Amino acid sequence: MRAVVCTRYGPPEVLQLKEMPKPIPRTNEVCIKIFATAVTASDCIVRAFIVPLRLKPLMGAVLGFTKPRNPILGLVLAGEVESVGRDVTQFEPGSQVYAFTAFRFGAYAEYECLPEKAIVAVKPSNITYEEAAAVPYGGLLALYFLNKANIRSRRRVLVYGASGAIGTSAVQLAKHFGAEVTGVCSTANLELVKSIGADAVIDYTKEDFTRNGARYDLIFNAVGKRKARLQAQGSLTPEGRHITVDDSTPRLRKDDLVFLTGLVEAGRLIPVIDRRYPLEQIVDAHRYVDEGHKKGNVVMAVAT
Ligand SMILES: NC(=O)c1ccc[n+]([C@@H]2O[C@H](COP(=O)([O-])OP(=O)(O)OC[C@H]3O[C@@H](n4cnc5c(N)ncnc54)[C@H](OP(=O)(O)O)[C@@H]3O)[C@@H](O)[C@H]2O)c1
Repeated sequence: MRAVVCTRYGPPEVLQLKEMPKPIPRTNEVCIKIFATAVTASDCIVRAFIVPLRLKPLMGAVLGFTKPRNPILGLVLAGEVESVGRDVTQFEPGSQVYAFTAFRFGAYAEYECLPEKAIVAVKPSNITYEEAAAVPYGGLLALYFLNKANIRSRRRVLVYGASGAIGTSAVQLAKHFGAEVTGVCSTANLELVKSIGADAVIDYTKEDFTRNGARYDLIFNAVGKRKARLQAQGSLTPEGRHITVDDSTPRLRKDDLVFLTGLVEAGRLIPVIDRRYPLEQIVDAHRYVDEGHKKGNVVMAVAT
């Protein structure tokens, strides 16, 4: 099968399209023919091994010290189940699915095998494979952090970085849970953030939200501390919380992906796609995502 292989940690050019053996499902696994994947901010972090010095030994042990242990990166996929192991009961050949592969990676390829208990679910029926590949990463991460902050009890919510993969999901999920949402982004993304339901938008290039006197029950920094260290304590209501996307290691769940399927089918969560690349242009896709300013998601067509 064709797959993108990460030959060592480094710049986008370390990624190469190669022929790799097609995986064979174990008894509890499904083998998925992948039609689309996405290039996420996390893929770029893993490819370049951008890890704080103190975490390098731990992350090296988990991922591999000089190159990723699984040379095929890729965290999200959408495709069709081609075959199943004999113990699989939830899926059958022909099932249209999407998935988050987590530390298994492997989505930059024509086939991937996943245990049926992994974060794999039936794909929303109303969207394409490419659109489906744009849902799990931002959707699951935003849902995890919003739930952690008890989103159902938060009325006024500010999403900082509202135009990224996690931000565009966070805006829509917070709206779904009944919040009044303010999205913060740069000038070019104001219309996009309004279009996905934000009640108000703030252009961070023109206005510092921490100085405008407004108070929020939840401030979600979806950009992360590497690029945006917010001093937002003064913008919180007395019971308000400020959380950042890299505050903790998220625990993503299969049930949450099933929940997202329902939201997408109900039209409550619309995947935002910025650019589409074929697998052959993986280096260009990584260069673009490395810039840190994509609008929603970058997806890759794998097979037709
Ligand atoms: N805890 C974890 O395990 C975990 C897991 C996954 C991701 N993350 C973190 O989550 C972050 C966001 O992921 P993503 O996929 O949503 O990224 P993304 O799609 O690349 O979006 C990044 C967002 O940041 C905004 N931005 C970039 N530089 C900024 C700046 N200096 N000030 C304000 N906004 C800025 C961009 O908006 P503009 O273009 O409008 O500037 C864009 O909306 C990643 O950096 C990653 O480190 C953490």
